[in-house]
Amino acid sequence: MTREVPTAPSARPKKITAPWVAAAAEANRAGADRRLVVVTAYDFQQARVADAADVDVVLVGDSLANVVLGYDDTLSVTVDEMLHHVKAVRRGLSRALLVADMPYGSFHLSPQSAVENGIRFVKEGGAEAVKLEGARPKEIAALVDVEIPVMAHLGLTPQSIHRFGGYKVQGRGDAADALLVAAREVEEAGAFSLVLECVPAGLAAEITAALSIPTIGIGAGAGTTGQVLVYHDLLGMEERIAPRFVRRYAELGRASREALEAYAADVRAGRFPSDDESYGDPSRPTPSDTEPLTKLYGA
Ligand code: KIV
Repeated sequence: MTREVPTAPSARPKKITAPWVAAAAEANRAGADRRLVVVTAYDFQQARVADAADVDVVLVGDSLANVVLGYDDTLSVTVDEMLHHVKAVRRGLSRALLVADMPYGSFHLSPQSAVENGIRFVKEGGAEAVKLEGARPKEIAALVDVEIPVMAHLGLTPQSIHRFGGYKVQGRGDAADALLVAAREVEEAGAFSLVLECVPAGLAAEITAALSIPTIGIGAGAGTTGQVLVYHDLLGMEERIAPRFVRRYAELGRASREALEAYAADVRAGRFPSDDESYGDPSRPTPSDTEPLTKLYGA
């Protein structure tokens, strides 16, 4: 991929592109301070919020499976389900780079299947790049060969959950070297960036220093080029689990529940809707909200 010439720290393009993201690591080496801000989103409104907040990259993650569709893991989400949400996010974004996550089974069979599904995300979904989990240089190279920028993803890759035997930190001790080798492989295959999930902070910093593409950490410490969090985690909408790497910037789950409880209480007490929230017609009396329902029903 053609890299953009490193820009001054303050220079931010009107539209974020894969080459601009790819150039972040080199820009930082040249004295910039380009920390990439990545967040997941799954629908039109979330995309609009992320774009308005000026994040760099919006990822329609296969975490869709857990946080939106209610599956236990990410393995069952399909390309069609992902595409439905990628299209919605596309309609809400104008500035941020849109990356579509390739779900389990959509690239594992062959580089050809990776290309076929990758093209669907670009053509039908409007994605500007795809992300795929694991050290899969052949699939990455095949996608890059058909003009699709690829974000790689190593460390705790949830699609490998059965092989890992659970959601465990990856790359500790002797496993560190293999992760570094895999990182170099995906870079050589042409990935424009690399997500590092749940790896020790020291190893993530080492990988970041060793690569010329940017790293994006989630549970990988402060030494990566950028950070990614799941929308529902950072806004406190996902209340069932709280991994240590999540910082909640809001408590929207609690706020939403409290709002719905207040709405329910108002409806049950006849406090909603008020006259101001209703339409009048001079030819008909407006029922009072304090009137008991039994009277309205003529009981
Ligand atoms: O699916 C997802 O949301 C992800 C991010 C956590 C990187 O892969």
